[in-house]
Amino acid sequence: MVLWSGRFSEPTDADLKKLNDSIDFDKRMYAQDIAGSIAYALALASAGVLPGSEAETIAEGLEDVLREFERGTFELQYDDEDIHTAVERRLTELVGPVGGKLHTGRSRNDQVATDFRLWTMNAIDEVDELLDGLQTALVEKAAEHVHTLMPGYTHMQPAQPITAAHWLMSFFWMLTRDRERLADTRRRTSVSPLGSGALAGTPFEIDREALAEALGFASHSQNSLDAVSDRDFAVEMLFALALMGTHLSRFAEDTVFYCNPAFGFIRLEDRYSTGSSLMPQKRNPDPLETTRGKAGRLIGNLVSLLTTLKGLPSTYNKDMQEDKEPLFESVDTVKLLLPVLTAIVSTFNINVEKTRSALSEDMLATDLADYLVRKGLPFRQAHHVVGAAVSASDKQGVTLSQLSLETLRGLSDLFESDVAAVFDFEQSVARRKADGGTAPEAVTAQIVAARNWLSKHEVN
Ligand code: ARG
Repeated sequence: MVLWSGRFSEPTDADLKKLNDSIDFDKRMYAQDIAGSIAYALALASAGVLPGSEAETIAEGLEDVLREFERGTFELQYDDEDIHTAVERRLTELVGPVGGKLHTGRSRNDQVATDFRLWTMNAIDEVDELLDGLQTALVEKAAEHVHTLMPGYTHMQPAQPITAAHWLMSFFWMLTRDRERLADTRRRTSVSPLGSGALAGTPFEIDREALAEALGFASHSQNSLDAVSDRDFAVEMLFALALMGTHLSRFAEDTVFYCNPAFGFIRLEDRYSTGSSLMPQKRNPDPLETTRGKAGRLIGNLVSLLTTLKGLPSTYNKDMQEDKEPLFESVDTVKLLLPVLTAIVSTFNINVEKTRSALSEDMLATDLADYLVRKGLPFRQAHHVVGAAVSASDKQGVTLSQLSLETLRGLSDLFESDVAAVFDFEQSVARRKADGGTAPEAVTAQIVAARNWLSKHEVN
């Protein structure tokens, strides 16, 4: 029998039921639903609504239901519309009519909002830990490559020499912000809606603060209409995951390029590469392409929930049942990606000869302009002079350092024999030692700051 069937004279249409039911996906919240119900039963007893012995019976019955879920012996029935009705149905089978007292003053509206918030808080903790793993792998790999020189690109064109550690660490900092966003989202998620009833609040004297605390929430909601109707925490979580996925997709894209033999900067271990069914020579960086691709799904899930919520009338509407699948999917997706990416970063090999030999002297053109600046020429003029030098080297088919001093002096008499010292990649990188720069000295300080951040960050 359906729990709410009292006023109906015929069973729900079978096709409608398939559309309406959410048990297939919301059964994942069984642990949160049962924890919420146990705390609620005890709160009802504290409020004098239930005798303590009945609350105990209900709580023990719920523990039994939990064990059934954990052992995989819980049997779903046709009429189990969602996780809330399924748990209550089974509870009543186990403990008898007293089970029917659990829902006193409660609605599935405050119940589902509670469950989903608890589930999200737990998911944040899990994702945060996986991010910690990836960040640690990035720092460790960076620490090995503080002195590894490689080309830095803008517009995917050779720009200036950088250190490989600096490239790796750039993603570390993106992930710090992702983790801060998760922690921030968690703070706003950690507000208990329980005791809001269907929309108007509960007529029973439930100590909502104690109830919230018993469930691990930091506080309880201040407006019952808001509490049952907003899913902003889920949107925030989806945004945090979409942006993290976007960061990961950019890391993946760089790495795909660097795995191309034309670059040869990075080689993935065989177990993180895939082959072609046709071309025997291929070593494809599929997991990185998958990472790049999954970002689309993460962004789509954010847009999906925002679109569902937009323009909904006040308080609970069944549309809101569409909140869970996008978030479940996004969380599953990042939980699938992060361990693989972590392993890839820990094990891939950066070929220091290849990254080094990819440097070309034109990447020192800015340093050549800076040389003239140090001799007093305004930067804009220096830029112009060096532009002419690059053009001359192109015409003569030589590198910048192969231009004669005479040719250079034809462009500016500030050039002297000491200009030869400019053509040194190590020096170019070492000069960029102000905080946040690519110099080994600055990157070493960056790594210290990163390790410090890792040791201090807390998600809750
Ligand atoms: N399965 C529902 C959901 O996920 C639970 C809340 C149902 N509430 C209601 N008034 N029909 O949103």
